[in-house]
Amino acid sequence: MSQESKGSGNEYVTLQDHSTGKNYDFPLMPGSIGPKVIDVRPLYAQTGHFTYDPGYTSTGSCESKITYIDGEEGILLHRGYPIEELAEQSSFLELCYLLLNGELPTQSERQKFEATITNHTMVHEQLHNLYRGFRRDAHPMAIMCGVVGALSAFYHDSTDINDPRQRMIASHRLIAKIPTIATMAYKYSIGQPFVYPRNDLSYAENFLHMMFSVPAADYKVSPIVSRAMDRIFILHADHEQNASTSTVRMAGSSGANPFACIAAGIASLWGPAHGGANEAVLDMLNEIGSKDRIGEMIERAKDKDDPFRLMGFGHRVYKNHDPRARVLMKSAHEVLGELGIENEPLLEIAMELEKIALEDDYFVQRKLFPNVDFYSGIILKALGFPTSMFTVLFAVARTVGWIAQWKEMIEDPSQKIGRPRQLYTGYTQRPYVAVDKR
Ligand code: ACO
Repeated sequence: MSQESKGSGNEYVTLQDHSTGKNYDFPLMPGSIGPKVIDVRPLYAQTGHFTYDPGYTSTGSCESKITYIDGEEGILLHRGYPIEELAEQSSFLELCYLLLNGELPTQSERQKFEATITNHTMVHEQLHNLYRGFRRDAHPMAIMCGVVGALSAFYHDSTDINDPRQRMIASHRLIAKIPTIATMAYKYSIGQPFVYPRNDLSYAENFLHMMFSVPAADYKVSPIVSRAMDRIFILHADHEQNASTSTVRMAGSSGANPFACIAAGIASLWGPAHGGANEAVLDMLNEIGSKDRIGEMIERAKDKDDPFRLMGFGHRVYKNHDPRARVLMKSAHEVLGELGIENEPLLEIAMELEKIALEDDYFVQRKLFPNVDFYSGIILKALGFPTSMFTVLFAVARTVGWIAQWKEMIEDPSQKIGRPRQLYTGYTQRPYVAVDKR
């Protein structure tokens, strides 16, 4: 394969088919930053071959203006703004506006957007009945998949994907209602009454209120806790074409309604290799139990015959520190300090584990660094969330990323139904055998 410039400065990559001696040129497409991509769309038509790329490790599936990641340098930008600056200076709802609309809002745009989201936090009352159909011991993520998918049965007036106004209403509804739906899943699982949203609270405060308050007592949200919550939402809001976002785009590419697409994203997020990892991190830290068992767990993680992996370590894209993990490490110390949780043993184990792993050749050579999940579980535990809710919180935050990516895809004139090809290695054609002859 060679790279050259031809004609008007357009760059091509040339692929040579050794069996025929033919050369094929494929254009190189530049982004605004990051590596250029080879446009292989005419590949099959020209060569009669497909590419083979399980896990899409070398495949760009779309053009996007929302989020940029440089995994080698540990950089994450939303619409050009570094995640560290957004986590420090912005708020989750402002970030939602930015992801959806492409620019930071003016003061009045911000107020209007916040009012819109705040005024759509209640869910259809009949949705309450849907919860009662679930077993009390259902995992809240199971409830989330079902209830978010069911929104399409309640909000018919925002399911026409070809109407820009309906697309925007569906986006606002999802961002506004997802905290209500998530906290209802939790309240149902512990047998407490559902708590209605309050319009006088911020997004994060309202979430904490619906999660932790009960009608029988006053509940005051601490500003430190609500700021930490808001920051966790910011850090999980979008991460370009990860498994769940790609799932949302794939589901949406067939023209499915946005509620069904987000339910698909929630299903994908549930897995332990993706959103389930922070729950797995806490389980792992509990299993380690004390600093003197860290060495043993590191050896297990390195043993190819043992399926155990160090949870919260490694990332498909980041081959450097995950910038979100850095913000969260600082946040973990602040939150535990403010809440007066001195000497949290899990945090101590986590810090020691990180130190040992970062000096170990196995992790250094493979560029395995702590990811966002490594510290988020510790903060969430300190804030009082049960582990079963960790992935749900991730889903609450990621809903805006999913919906912004879905919207961008629908508005992209080059959008096509997602339909990968395969390398078939099964039987070639053979005749049917009657049952008495098998
Ligand atoms: N512990 C031990 N070894 C690991 C780990 C780990 N956590 N992660 C990767 N490796 C090793 C692999 O065994 C492999 O070794 P080899 O080259 O000797 O075969 C090498 O590092 C490369 O790993 P891959 O699995 O090929 O990397 P991939 O990009 O496919 O996987 C993933 C990324 C799934 C995140 C992986 O690192 C992992 O399972 N981590 C633990 C789970 C986790 O924390 N997930 C959260 C991801 S972040 C998020 O979703 C928000």
